[in-house]
Parts: sequence; structure tokens; C-alpha cells
Amino acid sequence: MPVDIVVGGQGGDEGKGKVSAYLACKRDYDYSIRVGGPNAGHTVFFNDRIYTLKTMPSGFVNKRTKLVLGAGTYIITDWLEKEIELTGGGNRLVIDPHAVIIESRHTNAERGDTRMMGKIGSVGTGLGAAVRDRVDRKELRFAKDEPRLKKYVKDVPELLNKALAKGSKMLLEGTQGMKLSVLHGEYPFVTSRDTTASTFMGEAGLGPKYAGEVYAVFKPYVTRVGPGKVAGEMRDKAKLLKYHTAGREVGSVSGRLRRVGGFDMEVARQAVRINSATKLAITHIDLLEGADLSRGVKSFKGEAERFMGTLEKVCAVYPYPKVGLISYGPGLFDVLELK
Ligand code: IMP
Ligand code: MG
Repeated sequence: MPVDIVVGGQGGDEGKGKVSAYLACKRDYDYSIRVGGPNAGHTVFFNDRIYTLKTMPSGFVNKRTKLVLGAGTYIITDWLEKEIELTGGGNRLVIDPHAVIIESRHTNAERGDTRMMGKIGSVGTGLGAAVRDRVDRKELRFAKDEPRLKKYVKDVPELLNKALAKGSKMLLEGTQGMKLSVLHGEYPFVTSRDTTASTFMGEAGLGPKYAGEVYAVFKPYVTRVGPGKVAGEMRDKAKLLKYHTAGREVGSVSGRLRRVGGFDMEVARQAVRINSATKLAITHIDLLEGADLSRGVKSFKGEAERFMGTLEKVCAVYPYPKVGLISYGPGLFDVLELK
């Protein structure tokens, strides 16, 4: 089926940007679609630069791939314009007329809300306030109302469905992760949207028939940038240092140091089920001792070998996903692909 989906299996920041960019190069998709809000920073190391994308799809790295923002996208126009310039992707960008503009009143309302910023730990982009206005049917500005974005606006469901009819291949990049879903996550310590595969399809204007591979992205450990549950949370400052430096576990939008915990099997099982994951994409394996990539996974020792054993239990959950990708460094092609 033509639409491959990338989802987060944990608490966000699993490496969806890197995995999406890698796949866009290797699978050469015709379209790279992103949905969701600018509270999610997707990081891509490409051509000696670090791109922290809050809105543009990570598939920009493939110059042939058209870039699409669906109706379930929330846009801060200034930020998007900067990313268009940074990525040079403007001439292949299409935006759904019903994508919502986050206005400064939304951002100010969220930043001034002590419960949202304190107890919930919101990133403070205004996404939650804009979602709330949409649910309340209040007056809102959409992409079709924003003169600066007009040239990109097109009927996305029509465009994508016509392309599907001609056999196009697409990559759909979701945001955040299992623990942060407002439907299935650890309420109230969640974001303002559902963060699973079927919702991403709906937010893009795609029906369920076209879903192909679903890549659930995991790290060998769990991070959380805000409050809420972190099973087996690491408190040892010396140990944490490795994650915050070599592992770059610092919030890419919020700048906060991410909390780190053990691999949570229950969350992983839930992510496989709810997303109907067919592939596991593992990132940050290089943080484990014993992950010598030169001779492939078969040579893993110590921590890395034990982690691969843990993954077998995740692969035993219906629909029985296979480990598809293992990322061992920040570079776009620091990836081991398993057949
Ligand atoms: P909000 O979506 O900005 O309101 O944040 C709600 C919760 O989700 C907070 O704990 C945030 O830290 C967390 N969160 C939101 N977006 C992301 C993300 O992209 N990565 C990790 N955590 C996130
Ligand atoms: Mg992130």
C-alpha cells in the first residue's frame, strides 16, 4: 500500500525526523506529508547542517519529493517562512486550506496559563489554545486566510487522492508519541491531539485503505521533556550527563533537559497495537554499551544484546512488527537496515 507512516512509540523525541528523512531518501517517495503542531521539533542532520523542523516535513532532503501539510497541521507563519527559506522547499510545498494558523493570542494565552505551563509542562507554542478554539468553533484563521501562505494553498485530499490513483508513494510523518496521545496516553500529561497512525491519516485527508508500512520509532530508553510518569527514572547526574551530551537529549523546541527512564515494555506493546506497527525503527543504539555496528546486529554484546532480546518481546505483539531500521548516530545515513 502506498502510504508509509512514521509514529512515535514512546514519549516523543524518538527520532521521527531522522527516520523520515532517511526513508525519504531511500524509498524515494513522491510526497512527504506532515501533520500536527510546532511544539514538535524534528531534527535532521543533513549536508553538515542540523535542521530542527517544527512544521516542514523531514522528507525535504529528497529534492524530488513534494512537501505537504494537511488540515491537521497548526502553523506559526513566521516559523514556517523561516523553515521554507532554510530548507529551500517552497517551490514544492502544498498546504491544506484548513490548516490552522496559530496566532500570537494563542501563544500568549498558553504561556500565560500557569497550569498549562506548570502542571502539564506545555511547550508554550500555543498549539493547545488553537486546538481549543477549533473545538469551540470560535473564529480562527486558516491557511486559506493567510496572504503570506496563499500561494501554497491547494485542496490536499484531492491532490493526494489523484496522486494515489496514479500510483504515487507517500510518507506520512506523525508527531509526538504514544505516551503523549490525548486519547490513549498518560492523561493529563499529554498533548492536545491524538498521536497515533489512524489520526495522522485523517489529519492528512487520507482514508484508512492506503496505509502501508507503519514504522514505530523507539529509543532503547524513554525520555519525557515535561512532567508525568517516567518508569525507572534515572536520577544519577553523572549517568544522565551522557544522555544530555552524546545523546543530545535536550528539548529541541523547549530547550529543557529531557528526563530519562528505562525502556517501558507496556508502552511499547500499546504503541504496536494502536498504531498497527509493521516495523520497529530503533534510534540511539549507540548510547548502549556493546553496540559495535561494524559487524551488524549479530555482533551486539552486553547492553545492546540484552536490548535486542527485549525487542523480541515487542515483535511478539500482534501485528508482529519486524525490526526494520537501527540508527546508530545522528547522521542521515548512520542506519543499519535489516531485511
Ligand atoms: P503541549 O502539547 O505543548 O501542551 O505539551 C504537553 C506535554 O507534551 C508536555 O509534557 C510537553 O513537554 C509534551 N510534548 C509536546 N510536544 C512534544 C514533543 O514534540 N516532544 C516531546 N514532548 C512533547
Ligand atoms: Mg522532538
